Amino acid sequence: MSANPFLDPGRVRGDLYRSADRLAHRTRALHEAKISGCDVADTIADLLAARLPAGATVLDVGCGRGSTTLHLAARLRPRQLIAVDASRSLLGTVLTRLGRAGDNASAVCADFHRLPLPIGAADAAIAAFCLYHSAQPAVAVAEIARCLRPGATAVLVTKSLDSYRELDQLVQATGLDPYATERPSLYQSFHSGNLYDIAADGGLTVLDVIHDEHSFRFADALHLARYLATTPKYQIHLSGGIAGVAEALRQRLPAPPYTTRSTVSYAVAVRP
Ligand SMILES: C[S@@+](CC[C@H](N)C(=O)[O-])C[C@H]1O[C@@H](n2cnc3c(N)ncnc32)[C@H](O)[C@@H]1O
Repeated sequence: MSANPFLDPGRVRGDLYRSADRLAHRTRALHEAKISGCDVADTIADLLAARLPAGATVLDVGCGRGSTTLHLAARLRPRQLIAVDASRSLLGTVLTRLGRAGDNASAVCADFHRLPLPIGAADAAIAAFCLYHSAQPAVAVAEIARCLRPGATAVLVTKSLDSYRELDQLVQATGLDPYATERPSLYQSFHSGNLYDIAADGGLTVLDVIHDEHSFRFADALHLARYLATTPKYQIHLSGGIAGVAEALRQRLPAPPYTTRSTVSYAVAVRP
């Protein structure tokens, strides 16, 4: 059985995040399929809004393409917004997407286990859907905590181990990946069930953990293929990319729609 691709540094630096395209495909396919569950960026902004002083410096760690970063810039209007990611190319995408809203933003290309920022530099930090790329997420949390001033807030976000399990069953049933249900969860190192303990092990005082159920409905085979061909979870050996996967799904699955679910979990914590 293969190892978890989310914990493979070569994959994380390579095909997963070297360019914004694959991440954009995956997140757009999921976003279009979503039929219930709170908007993640909105929820993060809500959780931080009441806790942020005026003129705050905010870190968005593992910012990806900046979906959360853009929202934080618009909703919280921090004095300084520092977007951190290991992918230089994704940081470029964030700055482009921020446009004029990025006048007070800076992009820092760094590993979240070793942030090139001074002790106590920030009033708040967000780490959304990125700490599951660490085999030692408590080390990354401790590093984020080091960059917060005492009393500052961190919002850490991840998903449940059983997220999208229905898709594992469906992919296995089609024969596209006969081992789909046996592959490790992409979120195995940092998930809804260990979020509290890892935040506490990293030296934060956890105030609250919130779980929010999301459900998804993929309208047709092409829509589902856009997600399946861009998630690294499965090993699908088919030519033709997304179109090839869509054609195989049309032949092997009952009529759409195809549904699945996920739990998104938020820890709200402070640096003591
Ligand atoms: C799924 S994306 C994050 C999405 C983003 N936070 C959001 O909410 O839209 C995961 C990001 O974590 C980054 N990442 C993975 N390992 C990292 C590390 N060791 N240090 C910094 N960033 C890392 C990847 O480059 C990628 O951009």
